[in-house]
Parts: sequence; structure tokens; C-alpha cells
Amino acid sequence: MTKILVTGGTGYIGSHTVVELQQAGYQVVIIDNLSNSNIKVLDGIYNITGIRPEFVQGDVTDIVTLRHLFETHRDIKGIINFAASKAVGESVQKPILYYRNNLVSLLNLLELMPEYGVKGIVFSSSCTVYGEPDVNPIDETAPIKPATSPYGNTKQISEEIITDTIHSGAPIKSIILRYFNPVGAHPSGEIGELPLGVPNNLIPYLTQTAAGIRERLTVFGDDYNTPDGSCIRDFIDVVDLAKAHVVAMQRMLDNEDTDPVEIFNLGTGHGLSVLELIDSFQRATGVNVPYVIGPRREGDIEQIWAIPDKANKVLGWVADTPIDQTMQNAWRWQCRITGR
Ligand code: WQD
Repeated sequence: MTKILVTGGTGYIGSHTVVELQQAGYQVVIIDNLSNSNIKVLDGIYNITGIRPEFVQGDVTDIVTLRHLFETHRDIKGIINFAASKAVGESVQKPILYYRNNLVSLLNLLELMPEYGVKGIVFSSSCTVYGEPDVNPIDETAPIKPATSPYGNTKQISEEIITDTIHSGAPIKSIILRYFNPVGAHPSGEIGELPLGVPNNLIPYLTQTAAGIRERLTVFGDDYNTPDGSCIRDFIDVVDLAKAHVVAMQRMLDNEDTDPVEIFNLGTGHGLSVLELIDSFQRATGVNVPYVIGPRREGDIEQIWAIPDKANKVLGWVADTPIDQTMQNAWRWQCRITGR
């Protein structure tokens, strides 16, 4: 069995990816410092797959811990790197934390990979690298815009670090995945997103409002230049997203002829407005979500959605979970964590 190291494997996207990797026959080792996740996630993974992944509690920014992990698991062949901080607003307040967490961890992994014969790394990047696109939808050749937050900057710099390292001749490969807006939860209700405190992102705020934890959702602006005035995003089901990591890993490890660095947009190819999303949640679950229109949120992009053709063709992968199903899964998960 091929062994894969998943950093940040108890987090939201990480945990869903561990499930898909195990179901595809990979052996998984997780390293996570539990700074934004819970050890109980391992139970959820076990309940779905019947396999408890090996777990190391540790920080990828600590090269001593990481070296020890590679010494213990000399047969790791690939890495999926989710261990990173991801709150845009917080990154503006704590830039050093963001640069340290997101960049030092990547540098450590890239440094140790050749030494321990690890062939490939799948990296979690973001559509945030495109900034506000000139036209939509966008493919991977769209220009990279100056980052508007330290978080976004860490993604741009990370992509450059990977590219420069591989161009220098390091005997490794990488697939960089630019996620659009991941939402939803595993259909089993066993794993999902566990936001700490007041959520910043739309779906956790929406499901918490539906559950009565928050009084109402605020839609940040309805005066954008879009059909209904609210922002447009490409909401991608987290299980679809997780599956893309498995095919990316297979491609990197099993295929000698692929380019050493490849970049893919991971989206559905469909833009949905914030108001349309609220509507689809209500339709899919029959649960009412009280909301008000508020002012625009600083730094928001008006509209962005993907051309996922490259991932569809090259990886043979499509994000095809209907949004209603995704909303039902998000709601099932919210009910589970609020004990409803
Ligand atoms: C979506 C839309 C909000 C909350 C961010 C990162 C991105 C990515 C995902 C990382 C926007 C609106 C939100 C609310 C609202 N990466 N909204 N009321 O900003 O598109 O992307 O998260 O982890 O890099 O930038 O996602 O979910 O915050 O917002 O109206 O209470 O929902 O204005 O239009 P965003 P989001």
C-alpha cells in the first residue's frame, strides 16, 4: 500500500481527503497540531472508512518533529499539504503568524522530501491568487493579481517556492490545486467543518443561523454589478474537492511523463450568487434562514468562477454534486454538531 502523509489531516478539507485516500486504498499518516481541529475527527474518519489513520500530533513548522516523522515512516511516497492558517481577516492582524505557519511548513517539507525519497506534493492553493478577475469564468492562465491579504500572499509565494524548487532540479513533483469556495460536509454526517467562534465564511454562518445559534445572516452587499446584486462564487462540494486530491496523487506518483509542476483550478464551472445560495439552502432543507442585506465587506471580490476544463480533461475529474445535495449535507452536519 502506498503511504501518504497528509499535513493538516484533521482539518476540514484534510479530513475529507483522508477518507477518500483510504477508500482508494492509500495508507495515510496525518500530522496536525490541532490548532484549528479536534482529535475526534479521527473517530469520524474511522466510522466512515473502518480505518483509523496513523496520527502524529505535531507542527510542520518544526523540522525536528518532521524529520522524526520521516525517519519513522521511511516509505512515505507522497504528501498532501493542508497544514496552514486560512482566515483572511486574521492574516491582516497577524501577518508573521501566517507567513511562518504557511511558508516555513512548506519549506520544511520541500527540504526533506528528496532526503527521504518522497516523490510528490499536492499543494492547496486558492482562487484568491487571481484577485478580482478581468473576465469570468477563469482558467489557469488568468493573470495572478497582487495579493490583498497576507493569507493570499502566502498562497502566491508558496506557488513560487514550489515552482522555483522544482526548476532548480529537485527530484520531486508537485500538483498545485487552486480551490474555489469549498462547502458542504460528508454525506454520512460524520465529518464536516468545525469553525471556532463566530464563522467568517458564508456557509457555516448560514447553517448556524438556520440552527438558531445566530439571529440572522448578513448578506454583504446587494449593489454589486451582478444580476441580483450579491457576489458570485463557485461553490464546490468538499467531497468532490477531496476526490480531486486522490486523482492528483495517482497522476503524480504513477505517471512518469507528466510535467513536474502542474496547476489546476478546482471548481464546478458554475457561478452562484450569495442570494441564490441562501435560496438553494432553504429549498433543499425546507429550513428558513433569516437574513438582512448589509454593507459590502471590505476586500470582497465581486465575482469569480472557474473554468475547470483542465482538471476535467487531464485529471478525469468533475465536481458534479448538485448544490441542493451539498446544502443538505452541510445542514445534516450542523444538526449533528448542535445535537439536533
Ligand atoms: C463568500 C461570499 C461574502 C459571510 C474566502 C477566502 C478564499 C477561500 C475561501 C480559504 C462573499 C459573502 C460571507 C457572511 C456574506 N479560501 N458572505 N455573509 O471570501 O469568497 O473566500 O474563503 O480558506 O481564499 O478568501 O468566502 O465564504 O467568506 O464569502 O454575505 O456572513 O459570501 O461577502 O461574497 P470568500 P466567504
